[in-house]
Amino acid sequence: MIEVRNVSYSYNGKVALENVTFSSGDAFLAIMGPNGSGKTTLIKLIMGLLEQQKGEIKVFGMSPKEARHLIGYMPQRDAIAKHIPIQVKDIVLMGIAAKKFYSKEDIERAKEALEEIDSLHLWNEKFSSLSQGQQQRVLFARALAKNPKMIILDEPFNAVDLPSREKMVEVLKKKREEGTAIVAVVHNINPILHEIDEILLLNKKAIAFGTPKEVLNQENLRKAYGTDVQMIVCEEGYCHPLIGDEHAG
Ligand SMILES: Nc1ncnc2c1ncn2[C@@H]1O[C@H](COP(=O)(O)OP(=O)(O)OP(=O)(O)O)[C@@H](O)[C@H]1O
Ligand SMILES: [Mg+2]
Repeated sequence: MIEVRNVSYSYNGKVALENVTFSSGDAFLAIMGPNGSGKTTLIKLIMGLLEQQKGEIKVFGMSPKEARHLIGYMPQRDAIAKHIPIQVKDIVLMGIAAKKFYSKEDIERAKEALEEIDSLHLWNEKFSSLSQGQQQRVLFARALAKNPKMIILDEPFNAVDLPSREKMVEVLKKKREEGTAIVAVVHNINPILHEIDEILLLNKKAIAFGTPKEVLNQENLRKAYGTDVQMIVCEEGYCHPLIGDEHAG
C-alpha cells in the first residue's frame, strides 16, 4: 500500500528525513521514533501535503497527490489552530470534503462517524470549548468520515483517557477487519501492539522496519532513542521504550 524509496527531506537545509526506504503491505503500520525524528514529515509526504524533494513515494500504486482522496487523516492535535471558532460538525464534515454546501448524505455520514466514537452529543459544540481528549475524538471521527481506504493518524492517543483510547483501538480494529489500511504514529506502542502488522522505527533514517517481533528489540530501540532512553522494557519477546503519548516538547 505504501512504497517509500530513498526519501530525504530538509527544512531550509535542516535534514528531517534521510534516505528512508520501506515498503508496507496492506496492513496496520505503526511509526515510532523520538520527538523530532521526522514522523510527521514522513506522513505529510505520504499524503502529498509536503512537496517531495528526493526519492519516490507510491500509495496504492499512485502518487501521493493522486491517492490523497482515499486517505482519512487525523493530524497531530498541536497542529490544529484551536482558537478558530469552528463547530464540531464542520470539522467532521471537512473530513468528507472541503466544500461550501453538504448534502443530507454527507451530514448523515459525519454523524455516523462521530457516533462510531461515542461522541455524537458533541455535534453542535464549539471545537475550542472541548477538552483535549474530546478534541482528539472529534479529529478521529473526521479521519473516519469519508470511509477512506487508508486512515493515517498522527499521535491519536495523545491526551486521551483510557476509555477513549480503548474505544479508538476498537474502532481501528474493526476498520482493519473491514479492509481499511491503517498508519498510526505512536509513542507508546502497547495499546496497539497486538493489532499492528508492521512497525517503522524512525530517527531521520529508517532504523528498522518489519513485524513487531523483528523490530522491537533493545538494539533497534537504542539506535532510535539513544542510550539515555528512560527505560527499555522487554516482555513476551517484545521490547518497548517506556514513554507515554504525552508530548515532551
Ligand atoms: N515547518 C517546519 N519548518 C522547519 N522545521 C521543521 C518544520 N516541521 C518540522 N521541522 C523540523 O523537522 C524535524 C522533524 O520534525 P517532525 O515534526 O517531522 O518530527 P516528529 O517525529 O513528528 O516529532 P514529534 O514526535 O515531536 O511530533 C524537527 O527537527 C523539526 O524541528
Ligand atoms: Mg510529529
